[in-house]
Amino acid sequence: MTFEKALRLDDVPVRGVARANVNGKHVAIVRSEDRVFALHGVCPHEAAPLGDGSLDGGELVCPLHEGRFDPETGKANPETDWVSDIRTYPVQVKDGEIWIDL
Ligand code: FES
Repeated sequence: MTFEKALRLDDVPVRGVARANVNGKHVAIVRSEDRVFALHGVCPHEAAPLGDGSLDGGELVCPLHEGRFDPETGKANPETDWVSDIRTYPVQVKDGEIWIDL
């Protein structure tokens, strides 16, 4: 595994989402109360940037048509069946920095 720095932990609000660009790839970083997740940053529906989305009820919500994803698994919520599952990436948080393995 090769981890690369994505953002500083302080760049992502608790219970929030932020956009990162790692080696030219768009990544959505999701921060829950006590965990950090990294997901493919482009919505499979109409390519909205998921890093501009929000966290609601523990789900990552697309900013454009509110497709919903489990931030841990990338699974799409079946109630928003216009989106499909997205890829997730391993995350490490160390010394206040978020590192992900693409
Ligand atoms: Fe994400 Fe439509 S672009 S739900």
